[in-house]
Amino acid sequence: MNKLTMRLETEKDYRAVEELTREAFWNVYKPGADEHYFVHMMRSHPDFIPELAFVIELDGKIIGNIMYTKAWLEDENGERKEILSFGPLCVAPKYQRQKLGKRLIEHSFEVARKMGYDVNINFGNPGNYVSRGFVSCKKKNVSFIVDGNFPTALLVAELVPGALDGKKWMYISSTAADCCEDTTAVEAFDSTFPTKEKKWMPSQEEFYIYSHSSVVR
Ligand SMILES: CC(C)(COP(=O)(O)OP(=O)(O)OC[C@H]1O[C@@H](n2cnc3c(N)ncnc32)[C@H](O)[C@@H]1OP(=O)(O)O)[C@@H](O)C(=O)NCCC(=O)NCCS
Repeated sequence: MNKLTMRLETEKDYRAVEELTREAFWNVYKPGADEHYFVHMMRSHPDFIPELAFVIELDGKIIGNIMYTKAWLEDENGERKEILSFGPLCVAPKYQRQKLGKRLIEHSFEVARKMGYDVNINFGNPGNYVSRGFVSCKKKNVSFIVDGNFPTALLVAELVPGALDGKKWMYISSTAADCCEDTTAVEAFDSTFPTKEKKWMPSQEEFYIYSHSSVVR
């Protein structure tokens, strides 16, 4: 009998979650992956929110997870609002497209709402999120602080409808993912896992297009 459960991540899950993340992201956005290193490092970053790190287990094996860091929005008067940004979010390849990603998002949003959060913003492939109520950052007047642009991959979910109404915002991300710029550290960490072939996949070009384009009008 198959038993599916969702619960918070604990310390003894760390390696299994890193293995799952590596498996799910491998070759999807680049040849190889660095998301498992991001997961490994983010847990000790001050912006990490352990109360929102959920795993899905099937018969005791972790097959999906979601993790969050804090992020911020700054309005025209320079006032900052703390928001959420999830990622990595992943489901083991064998179990994808069976609504487990949806369950992870919906459950964590529910808990986040109770914690007082009203907005989540993250970078992603719109196809994975628009059916979950995410909209283009342009529609919520959220631009990217670095260049004032409205990146196509910057997606906004209001946990409380109308939370962003009536203002213009600039998005400020956590520095948690900066660790992945250290490619030597990424490679060293990756070498502690079984060897896997790095190769080109069409999804890499798809995400290149999304992540290098903006919504203009
Ligand atoms: C992205 C990911 C987490 C989604 O989880 P999932 O359990 O596979 O997704 P769900 O079944 O909940 O479906 C999510 C949405 O994806 C889209 N989707 C589902 N099946 C699809 C398919 N065959 N083709 C294209 N899009 C599809 C739909 O919009 C779907 O929502 P809908 O079913 O309400 O229409 C998972 O596929 C994954 O781990 N991918 C690799 C890692 C990754 O890219 N993570 C996200 C970083 S941006």
